[in-house]
Amino acid sequence: MIQVTNIHKTYDDGKVQVRALRGIDVQIEEGEFTAIVGPSGSGKTTLLNIIGGLDTPTQGDVMIGETNIAQLSENELIDFRLNHIGFVFQSYNLIPVLTAKENVEFLMLLQKRDETERNERTTKLLQAVGLGDQINKKPNEMSGGQQQRVAVARALASKPDFVLADEPTANLDSTSTANLLDIMLRLNEEENITFVFSTHDQRVIDRAKRVITVEDGKILSDVAK
Ligand SMILES: Nc1ncnc2c1ncn2[C@@H]1O[C@H](COP(=O)(O)OP(=O)(O)OP(=O)(O)O)[C@@H](O)[C@H]1O
Ligand SMILES: [Mg+2]
Repeated sequence: MIQVTNIHKTYDDGKVQVRALRGIDVQIEEGEFTAIVGPSGSGKTTLLNIIGGLDTPTQGDVMIGETNIAQLSENELIDFRLNHIGFVFQSYNLIPVLTAKENVEFLMLLQKRDETERNERTTKLLQAVGLGDQINKKPNEMSGGQQQRVAVARALASKPDFVLADEPTANLDSTSTANLLDIMLRLNEEENITFVFSTHDQRVIDRAKRVITVEDGKILSDVAK
């Protein structure tokens, strides 16, 4: 479903060149629950951002289904991301003035889905992440763990092909981390949602079904469990 071929990424500010990715080849199938691990600066965020169309490679191809997103224009990418990819960020990135329900609903509004569908799906997703009784709370009225569960519900609202998460548990305590992992694994196993996430957390790595280790912008190992 995701086919990354010979990706290179060099950041160049005119003075300094940083070779963040140096020839990455990887294939990710539907239904995977895959962790990308590696030392700080190894290229995990760069790789996730390129797979998600948030950044463009210097060289190489990223096929998502039948689409080579490395060839899309900025406007085409915005549209593609909206309809195909869900994102969860380290710092939750919820919209502070919107409630949990409104945050989850937001991308469905952009997709012009009708109100009945929006309401049904929002309720179902917030229940699935254990927040059925918190739907009218704003982010600052929720714990970090609750906010990140809203972010997972939001990532799924647009019916993406897969969810990318860059260190989703980095700001969570161990209980909230375990809780979020339980929810993500359940969505993976019961609804066949594909998750690809980066992490430094051994407890998260332990629960991944495939672990891809990146070092110096290259894949060092790729282990399915
Ligand atoms: N926008 C940018 N401009 C210049 N260099 C960048 C940029 N983004 C990342 N880099 C560099 O690219 C390399 C890879 O960075 P990246 O953020 O992908 O690493 P990471 O594995 O996610 O690290 P961490 O575990 O600390 O999040 C690093 O050397 C980093 O300094
Ligand atoms: Mg990173």
